[in-house]
Amino acid sequence: MDFYGKDFLKILDFSEDELRYMLGTAKKFKEMKKAGQNHKYFPDKNIAILFEKTSTRTRCSFEVAARDLGMGVTYLDPNGSQMGHKESIADTARVLSRLYDGIEYRGYGQAIVDELAKYSDVPVWNGLTDECHPTQALGDFMTIEEHFGKLKGLTLAYVGDTRNNVANSLMAMSVKMGVNFIACGPEALRPSEDILAACQPIAVKNGTTILLTSDMNMLNKRADIVYTDVWLSMGEDKAKWGERISLLQPYQVTMDVMNRANDGAIFLHCLPSFHDLNTSVAKEVNAAFGLTEMEVTDEVFNSEKSLVFEQAENRMHTIKSVMFLTLYKKGE
Ligand code: CP
Ligand code: NVA
Repeated sequence: MDFYGKDFLKILDFSEDELRYMLGTAKKFKEMKKAGQNHKYFPDKNIAILFEKTSTRTRCSFEVAARDLGMGVTYLDPNGSQMGHKESIADTARVLSRLYDGIEYRGYGQAIVDELAKYSDVPVWNGLTDECHPTQALGDFMTIEEHFGKLKGLTLAYVGDTRNNVANSLMAMSVKMGVNFIACGPEALRPSEDILAACQPIAVKNGTTILLTSDMNMLNKRADIVYTDVWLSMGEDKAKWGERISLLQPYQVTMDVMNRANDGAIFLHCLPSFHDLNTSVAKEVNAAFGLTEMEVTDEVFNSEKSLVFEQAENRMHTIKSVMFLTLYKKGE
């Protein structure tokens, strides 16, 4: 399997075998890191990580993973480059790929990262767009496989805003890896026709199901993984909070939801999460709408069923795997 020079833009670009290989490589890197084994394979390489939206996990994962592989890293923050306002995406790609061996991009439309990749001579890695969050899905499936010892036949229920970037990548990853996918949320926030049209044939081929529902009871004795995310994603208009809250409050993940899911069900969340009032955004929402918890209760978030911090750690191991595989030239 050779990934040298390839971009990592969305899950649908890769086969099940390729995704499995990425997960296997991440597992090896995790073992090496835990054993304290040096894996600085690329002491002469440098990467640029370009963030037009804020980040904790993705930025830190790229930085730590790059340094573990021996590479230099340049971080460009949301105001730190000319891209978009003074320089086109194409020109930015052509400049950065003269200087760097790989480019990470987090930002708005998927078309931007696609264009960066088109004009770049080096691999481009998608660190989140409005439509996709592929490195997230990879880290999540590493976490799921570590916990259950398998993927095939499990059922992942994504609850809430089922048309967001995280939900899209999880649907794609589920159908590729033989996991049944439930998108549970209000009809107004259903996955797009495009993502469904892309995923349905893969689900049929792999013998998995995609269920779209507004009924939380569909998780009962069925969902092995209950996954949720924020109700308003980065880049969305804050004026929509009120509408989102009324649409999504019935889809809050409570301990009752977890107890009614399949025996041994786990809770996952990409993070950051509004499960208490210890953030300024949660305080603002509380002042305006009176909520003390949003997409998940504090009880579930902090329970033994919650693997959210394992997930966060696995972002780094899987991102390292993607960078290694796309930068490593066989025979060198
Ligand atoms: N899950 C995730 O992408 O987190 P950050 O926004 O902190 O990178
Ligand atoms: N859907 C969220 C994911 C954050 C990691 C957002 O785009 O803000």
